[in-house]
Amino acid sequence: MKLRVWDLPTRVFHWSFAAAVTAAIVSAKVEAFDWHFRFGYAALALLAFRLVWGVVGPRYARFAGFVAAPARALAYLRGAPHDAPGHNPLGAWSVLALLVIVGVQAVTGLFTSDDVMASGPLIDTVASGTADLLGRLHRFNATTVYAIVALHVGAVVFYARVKRKPLVPAMLTGDAEVAMAAPPARDDALVRLGALALLAACSAGVWWLATLLPASAG
Ligand code: HEM
Ligand code: HEM
Repeated sequence: MKLRVWDLPTRVFHWSFAAAVTAAIVSAKVEAFDWHFRFGYAALALLAFRLVWGVVGPRYARFAGFVAAPARALAYLRGAPHDAPGHNPLGAWSVLALLVIVGVQAVTGLFTSDDVMASGPLIDTVASGTADLLGRLHRFNATTVYAIVALHVGAVVFYARVKRKPLVPAMLTGDAEVAMAAPPARDDALVRLGALALLAACSAGVWWLATLLPASAG
């Protein structure tokens, strides 16, 4: 039977986040730093949104609902069945890894400089040695971002091809085919409106970090 698993805000978050992260990588590689900063800020605002949505959002988007104990993730890896809707126990950990690794990338970017023409907005709010360290972390962690994204997309392809369990349709339409009866995720107008207000607040927060905070500090 079909069940609403991913509410619209979570789906919009996913595809916007994937686009922002990809665009941030491409723009950094071609050294279009104006654009790199814009996409980086977008990724940061979306990330902040997802962290709060993981606490206040509908059931399958909640971290408390999908973060299984490591023992359950190991058992799943060894073949234990998982019929409940939402991220599977292993997938939940990879979601957290994606959020943390991209989070480190977006935050360290605020303190990073290429020593020529582009400096993150918060670079002067910390000691130069600290900024140097965070900049090195930004360059080093870029490789970790590539690895976790490759692993993520590889896992989605593996599920579709090998396990015959396509995951992409549910991330597009919101509905997944489930084996057991379960309550649907709330996805009504009020939930969507709340998400919009939350995203606006997160964007305002990032705007404050990028413009007002450096002006008041400097
Ligand atoms: C998800 C968000 C982000 C991703 C995926 C990302 C990714 C990257 C990548 C791949 C590079 C090139 C690293 C290299 O080839 O050595 C880079 C460089 C850089 N990033 Fe980001 N970045 C993000 C956010 C930000 C933000 C928010 C800022 C500042 C507002 C920023 C500022 C910089 C700067 C100044 C460089 C140049 C470093 C150098 O040339 O030494 N980044 N970033
Ligand atoms: C830079 C690229 C990407 C990033 C950073 C990314 C990040 C994420 C994150 C954070 C989630 C968790 C969703 C949530 O609970 O909020 C997720 C789930 C998912 N992503 Fe991506 N994603 C990327 C690219 C892609 C691509 C290209 C595809 C399709 C081929 C894809 C397919 C999916 C699917 C199907 C899920 C749900 C998995 C499940 O059912 O447990 N992602 N992704």
